[in-house]
Amino acid sequence: MEKIRTVELFAGVGGFRLGLEASSDNFKVIWANQWEPSMQEQYAFDCYIAHFGESEQHVCQDIATVKSNVPDHDLLVGGFPCQDYSIMKKNAAGIEGSKGVLWWQIDDILREKRPKYALLENVDRIIRSPAKQQGRDFSIILRCLYEKGYAVEWRIVNAADYGYAQRRRRTFIIAYHNQSQRFRDLAEGVCTKGLKHMHQYIMAQAVLAEAFPIASHSRTFTESWIDEIAYPDIPDVTTQQKVSLYNAGLMMNGRIYSVDVHPQRKVPIPLRDILEKGYVDEQYFLRSEDMPRWSYLKGAKHERRKRRDGSEYWFSEGSVQFPEPMDKPSRTILTSETQVGRTSHVVVDQMTGRLRTLTPVECERLNGFPDGWTDTGMPEKMRYFCMGNALVVPLVTHIGEILHGDFTSM
Ligand SMILES: C[S@@+](CC[C@H](N)C(=O)[O-])C[C@H]1O[C@@H](n2cnc3c(N)ncnc32)[C@H](O)[C@@H]1O
Repeated sequence: MEKIRTVELFAGVGGFRLGLEASSDNFKVIWANQWEPSMQEQYAFDCYIAHFGESEQHVCQDIATVKSNVPDHDLLVGGFPCQDYSIMKKNAAGIEGSKGVLWWQIDDILREKRPKYALLENVDRIIRSPAKQQGRDFSIILRCLYEKGYAVEWRIVNAADYGYAQRRRRTFIIAYHNQSQRFRDLAEGVCTKGLKHMHQYIMAQAVLAEAFPIASHSRTFTESWIDEIAYPDIPDVTTQQKVSLYNAGLMMNGRIYSVDVHPQRKVPIPLRDILEKGYVDEQYFLRSEDMPRWSYLKGAKHERRKRRDGSEYWFSEGSVQFPEPMDKPSRTILTSETQVGRTSHVVVDQMTGRLRTLTPVECERLNGFPDGWTDTGMPEKMRYFCMGNALVVPLVTHIGEILHGDFTSM
């Protein structure tokens, strides 16, 4: 079989590549890009090349400046940074996306290269954003893909539902071009059986349904349109589209069907099982002088606070578990992990019984990376940052297995 020429955008420390390569040797990353805008040191990229080698095809520059170098490819992958997608301008020259909104970089590459498949990842709230006009941003993405000849499926997957150690919910988006057999089969089914086929497809036949089996669905569903009849152009989608989208969905020929689905759950790995069992360095243990701050941040509050303009308001929030329950999967790890804060995990050290934060290796395990993956010369704080940005690698392996089947049967 010919290699599946893969381009990895927003590569971070290589979660997509690692996951795909674990599913088959046939995935060959022929071009990768990673660049951290706010930093002089490029730690994530350094980690990437420490594992995958220095090469002219591994590029550490703003994607906006190098996208014209992207070679022809079969599969585009990337976890693009989550931003506001819809700042559109319509001027004499046509539609223009706001610079810095990274969706438009992907959009440009798809316009130019039309790979057969694209596999993208983003936060779960992307399907609802923005709060004041729900579903608008994702509809813009769907419309862009529709205009380029793609059908699109999406699922919000919580890694813990499928047996992993972290409750990390991410939206996976898979687009297939009308040159692909999958698109053609789907088009035929939708043409003859309509919405019923879209529903059946999402429940069982979609790439994401095969990778992450579904047990059942709620009665809640949406049907909507983002084609030219509904909206003449993308600025019209931007100003008018508002739609409730659910955790699974499909867009085919401009028609959207979305439904709330329930996973076929596997027993998750408890946090206890991923913790380092032996000696852990003293630096990770909670210092007694920080204990009041930890307790305050993790605790329930009902207090007066001041806004920037000086006006006051009541702030309330409940308590969070402190320390973390050891018999459950972890919460989502964030880029700020281990800083004294409400969202950082505090665990009971297995050897001493004392309270401590997670080690970088434990964060790597929670994302399914090999131990020490980010131990490539970056400061510890950056190891947490990279893991907060990354994805749960074995989820990509599941998807890769299904995609590989598609490519094999082409
Ligand atoms: C959500 S993370 C993806 C992480 C990746 N999937 C992984 O496994 O590590 C997004 C990445 O895009 C990178 N990025 C942000 N702006 C960029 C730009 N303009 N050009 C290229 N990369 C960019 C960030 O540095 C970050 O590593």
